[in-house]
Amino acid sequence: MTPTPTPLVTFADVALGYGDFTVLRDIDLQVMPGQVVAMMGGSGSGKTTLLRAVTGQLPARAGTITVFGRDMATLRGEALRETRQRMGVLFQGGALFTDLDVFENVAFPLREHTCISEQQILERVLDKLEAVGLRHAAHLRIAEISGGMARRVALARAIVLEPELILYDEPFAGLDPISLGITAQLIRGMTDKLGCASILITHDVAESFAIVDQVYLIGQGRLMAHGTPAQLSAAQDDYLQQFLQGKPDGPIGFHYPLTPAFERWLAARRGAA
Ligand SMILES: Nc1ncnc2c1ncn2[C@@H]1O[C@H](COP(=O)(O)OP(=O)(O)O)[C@@H](O)[C@H]1O
Ligand SMILES: [Mg+2]
Repeated sequence: MTPTPTPLVTFADVALGYGDFTVLRDIDLQVMPGQVVAMMGGSGSGKTTLLRAVTGQLPARAGTITVFGRDMATLRGEALRETRQRMGVLFQGGALFTDLDVFENVAFPLREHTCISEQQILERVLDKLEAVGLRHAAHLRIAEISGGMARRVALARAIVLEPELILYDEPFAGLDPISLGITAQLIRGMTDKLGCASILITHDVAESFAIVDQVYLIGQGRLMAHGTPAQLSAAQDDYLQQFLQGKPDGPIGFHYPLTPAFERWLAARRGAA
């Protein structure tokens, strides 16, 4: 009998927010080893907020976030740093250092976090560039590569420390259909090759449904749906179907929620007028 694998990430009844604005509440989710999990939702629904919670940048205001078996609320200093080093993050926009060439961009985390030799750095970086199809672009300056290539360089940089968990924030944004397909396949391929897990933050339904194992859909401040792509596609739910089909009319709200912070701001403006 094989033992049940332990989740890499668990959210139990988690609430997240900023100031007096609770962005998400009652969030339960799990990421298992080997899985690619999509966190989906409209713009402003709290996807990047979820990612910040996984990396420990944003503490939970309720509930428990467990990553690699550790309760994130209890981690400080060195322990937090060690936990973060086991994650690779591809930030929204995937900013590269424009004054460094492709090679040095990917080598950066190795220079920051390891003391391996120049020779080992060279081989490791070329290996990761090979994986994203850019070995022969190692010498190019960032200004000399396309947007799709830049995304792949950022991907190589996110995996160069061989993380157990990779987080991608909107990796498809602004890509043409071909680069988009290549990026999606790379995310799946990388996860399988490194034997890690990936969290894919996106609103791109078609591309992510083709490569992920599980989908969590957030909206209206909570978890709206969860399941495999096939389960969600088959579900009869107005909110879910509106999101999946990108219809403008439906239960998905357009208005940013009213908060006490806004009311205070407005009262002050009116007072000043
Ligand atoms: N640092 C912050 N301070 C205050 N509010 C924030 C901050 N970051 C995000 N928000 C608010 O939280 C909500 C969710 O934001 P975000 O997680 O970035 O959404 P998404 O990534 O899904 O587009 C938005 O309404 C946004 O205005
Ligand atoms: Mg975002």
